[in-house]
Amino acid sequence: MSQYHNIVILTGAGLSAESGLSTFRDPNGIWARYDYRDVATPEGFARNPALVHDFYNMRRRAHRDVQPNEAHRALARLEAGHRGEVLIVTQNVDALHEAAGSQNIIHMHGEALKALCAKCRATHPWLVDLSTEVTCPACGETGHMRPDVVWFGEMPYHMERITRALAEADLFISIGTSGHVYPAAGFVAEAGANGAHTVELNLEPSQGAQLFAEAIHGPATVVVPAYVERLLRGSA
Ligand code: OAD
Repeated sequence: MSQYHNIVILTGAGLSAESGLSTFRDPNGIWARYDYRDVATPEGFARNPALVHDFYNMRRRAHRDVQPNEAHRALARLEAGHRGEVLIVTQNVDALHEAAGSQNIIHMHGEALKALCAKCRATHPWLVDLSTEVTCPACGETGHMRPDVVWFGEMPYHMERITRALAEADLFISIGTSGHVYPAAGFVAEAGANGAHTVELNLEPSQGAQLFAEAIHGPATVVVPAYVERLLRGSA
């Protein structure tokens, strides 16, 4: 049995890379092809909503069609087999943790397969394209629908819950994230200061690699199942 009780797992784009979804900061990542100021800020959306809709329509189609990989499945096995709490805090807007069977998930950067009405703040499951012509099913207003994703300059979702979980965690694992984007990049320091053991599982050392007590580098589909098996056996 594992020596840990409360496990918090931060996930990023590297976890879904082997499912076929692009990461952001790798040489052929999304931010090498698009300027984030145009497609992932409230100002970009105000300037050119059609461009932002095109970008997320493309990503929504990609997210609709992908499957979870062995790393997502291992994390679902951990939640099912662990005696204590397992909370996944994901920066990913895909639905691959859910598809793999995880249940305790916080989408801190929102969800690509949901739409948000900027007028009445209602959210809706959304699998088809969005445009400036779409009407909100809740309030009936047209022209205010946007992807339910958190843009640069906006506050990530559920921060109070995340802060509480980091205070209670005795194990913090970060998977497939480059450590460039705050507040998520600060979670390792927060969990560590609260006494948690901290582990990085990533293809390469992240920006904040030196903040982790332990690091295992390799593809997520290899290192995550191996680490989960160690945890479930009680040898991690
Ligand atoms: P990044 O693209 O910044 O980082 C992905 C990390 O995953 C890098 O450190 C890669 O080395 C690693 N990686 C790539 N392939 C991997 C694999 N097969 N196995 C394991 N690791 C792999 O993505 P994030 O850190 O998730 O936010 O980016 C954070 C946020 O920045 C995103 O949520 C998004 C973005 O801008 C918003 O859009 C608000």
